[in-house]
Amino acid sequence: MSEKAAVRPEDLARAADALAGARRVVVSTGAGMSKESGIPTFRDALEGLWAEFDPQELATEQGFRANPRRVWSWYAWRRRRVVEAAPHAGHLAVTELQRLLPSVTVVTQNVDGLHAAAGSEDVVELHGNIRRLRCLDAGHLFTGEIPGEDDTERDPPPCPACGSPLRPDVVWFGEMLPRVAVERAWDDARRCDALLLVGTSGTVWPAADLPHIARSNGAFVIEVNPETSELTGIANVFLQGTAGGLLPRLVHEVRARVG
Ligand code: OAD
Repeated sequence: MSEKAAVRPEDLARAADALAGARRVVVSTGAGMSKESGIPTFRDALEGLWAEFDPQELATEQGFRANPRRVWSWYAWRRRRVVEAAPHAGHLAVTELQRLLPSVTVVTQNVDGLHAAAGSEDVVELHGNIRRLRCLDAGHLFTGEIPGEDDTERDPPPCPACGSPLRPDVVWFGEMLPRVAVERAWDDARRCDALLLVGTSGTVWPAADLPHIARSNGAFVIEVNPETSELTGIANVFLQGTAGGLLPRLVHEVRARVG
């Protein structure tokens, strides 16, 4: 089925009307937003990226302390894929939405920095950013050149300020989300008139709570996803398709309404 066939023109029009008429919009994205930039989603990756590893071994502080070399090297591998990735037409469409409408907050679960790379401003990163490092014991941010990004397994470098091992500045399983990001995302979800949900299975909390908060405060919820998700049931409109294919079409319709 072609993507165009999957989306009814009246659904696209209802979504564009809601966005064009909104005073405040939240765009909430998950791993599906980056798939067309070549970064596997977590659900995909359960066959690929994660298949040979147990997430508890890699994306937890315990895993890092038990095997810092393995965890550091896996994230270095992921970082290289992120640095080589480019934002796609869907990311650029989100950036244009920010320029077309009075207030658009981009909230993402993704750690790849691709929304910022596409020119989106003031992106709220709920799960941190793989391009940033901090030290394990004191949280000192490391802003220097990331040492030795190649395929060889290596030990994490020491923090220049305190000597404890550097780690990616991302949220690991069992860790709290960054407080400032949460406050900003939850506040904007409560106040928005429309929430555009893109590329998330809705299986990871508390990020999955955002559309529920928006909906319960009267926002119009639009979902863009090639498949239904845990959140499709609360969407006012479900646009079945990919971020790269559908978002430019949706923003074209919004542009036609706001001029
Ligand atoms: P998932 O991998 O759980 O879900 C990806 C979603 O993207 C699925 O609903 C797919 O149908 C959809 N999708 C696939 N290709 C797409 C495309 N081209 N365009 C749009 N959507 C597409 O990713 P998330 O829901 O983001 O958390 O959950 C990922 C989180 O789980 C990560 O942030 C991580 C992990 O636990 C932490 O690290 C804290």
